[in-house]
Amino acid sequence: MERNEDVEIVIVGGGICGLATALALHRKSIKSLVLERSDKLRATGAAIIVQANGWRALDQLGVGSILRQTAIPIKGGKFITLNEAESKEIPFGVPHEFRCLKRTDLMEAMANSLPEGTIRTSCQVLSVELDPVTHDQKLLLSNGTILHANVVIGCDGVNTCIANMVGLQRSNFLPFLTCVARGFTNYPNGHQFGSEFVMMVRGHVQLGTIPVTEKLVYWFLTRPKTSQDSIISNNTSLIRQSLMESMKGFPTHAMDMIQNCMLNFLHLTDLKYRPPWDLILSHFRKGTITIAGDALHATGPFIAQGGSASIEDAIVLARCLAQKMHSAKNNAIRKRDVEEAFHQYAKERKMRIFWISLHSFLIGKKLDAQSFIMKSIIIALMVILFRDPDWHTRYDCGTL
Ligand SMILES: Cc1cc2nc3c(=O)[nH]c(=O)nc-3n(C[C@H](O)[C@H](O)[C@H](O)COP(=O)(O)OP(=O)(O)OC[C@H]3O[C@@H](n4cnc5c(N)ncnc54)[C@H](O)[C@@H]3O)c2cc1C
Ligand SMILES: *[C@@H]1O[C@H](CO)[C@@H](O)[C@H](O)[C@H]1NC(C)=O
Ligand SMILES: *[C@@H]1O[C@H](CO)[C@@H](O)[C@H](O)[C@H]1NC(C)=O
Ligand SMILES: *[C@@H]1O[C@H](CO)[C@@H](O)[C@H](O)[C@H]1NC(C)=O
Repeated sequence: MERNEDVEIVIVGGGICGLATALALHRKSIKSLVLERSDKLRATGAAIIVQANGWRALDQLGVGSILRQTAIPIKGGKFITLNEAESKEIPFGVPHEFRCLKRTDLMEAMANSLPEGTIRTSCQVLSVELDPVTHDQKLLLSNGTILHANVVIGCDGVNTCIANMVGLQRSNFLPFLTCVARGFTNYPNGHQFGSEFVMMVRGHVQLGTIPVTEKLVYWFLTRPKTSQDSIISNNTSLIRQSLMESMKGFPTHAMDMIQNCMLNFLHLTDLKYRPPWDLILSHFRKGTITIAGDALHATGPFIAQGGSASIEDAIVLARCLAQKMHSAKNNAIRKRDVEEAFHQYAKERKMRIFWISLHSFLIGKKLDAQSFIMKSIIIALMVILFRDPDWHTRYDCGTL
């Protein structure tokens, strides 16, 4: 059965980027429809680090102040290297705003600020094509319905079905050799971390710990992938067991944290990235289609910027569209205006996402590197290119 429906702006994917884009457009009085394939909004991965640039973007969306109430500010931290003989501890300060949000809090704050009916769940887009007659975009949905849209924004993550339409191939996401487990541990009587971010490293295993509230701690553990990972990754008890095994030599309180984690938030994730140079070579737009978020620039989590960069995308995209549409009569959508808006969006975002991707790529490759020579080359590149390791937090995506 086929039924046709007409919509002006469709956002494919209701993750962080899709919701942020819908909300940014809403703040500019532009209506959109978000299509999400899952039956409810997903917040996989427990928590998300948001740094100063991300908070500036969340403030533009109007959800910064409510979200600040849900997560304590991180003031500093320490980097601990665990060795057989002795451990080394290097303290560091965090000079900019840095908090760790529960992903559900972030998703809910955005979803609750959207008008009723903006998000449609259980709605998977299979393909998009240009209607040769009407010049609309035809979206084929998994239930057989066809939806016509003037504008399509692909926020559909690493399994994107839109990227290939704008000249970026889906097969271009490459794997890192490192994988990440993430989880929450609750301390009913309060934890001992204060407002400190602690990184512990032993060999190829890294454990990061960040307090979310006085009682809740978010942690992530990176280690090399193993052949067992695909078998254990759908069983949280097995994930935990595997983490405990890779943590030999870590202090007891760290082992206890993993042992006592909340299993329903525990995830083991493969890491994929789009090669940074793909971003330089692509315009990531075609006619009235463009993409944003991980679909465009999945990076791996090594500088904790993927989510914030996605929210920045949303602000810039909405600003560019609004500038063009508000100059037209009664906010009408004209193809030419949208194309110009997307051109401006791509121009503003290109180098920002390139440098974020490159920075994260180098850190990921440094973890992956097997040889001493490769590691040294990467470290040298990082010293030259990213002398200021926090450069990415100083970016301001501007007002909406
Ligand atoms: C281990 C790890 C740790 C991270 N830590 C951080 C961090 O601390 N800070 C940070 O800023 N970022 C972090 N990130 C990155 C961040 O999670 C991502 O950048 C962000 O979630 C991207 O959001 P998105 O909306 O673009 O994509 P996604 O979150 O992947 O959302 C895509 C959505 O689209 C839906 N969808 C897909 N295909 C279709 C379709 N065909 N039709 C309809 N719907 C569809 C999916 O169901 C999904 O809901 C981390 C990532 C990883 C892997
Ligand atoms: C298919 O899904 C769309 C979007 O969720 C919905 O509007 C439409 O009614 C569904 N069609 C059928 C035939 O179920
Ligand atoms: C996990 O995946 C395996 C196959 O990979 C399957 O047999 C098993 O039922 C799954 N378990 C759960 C809990 O989903
Ligand atoms: C996970 O694996 C353990 C150990 O093999 C098994 O006892 C348990 O039933 C599995 N859990 C699920 C949900 O499949």
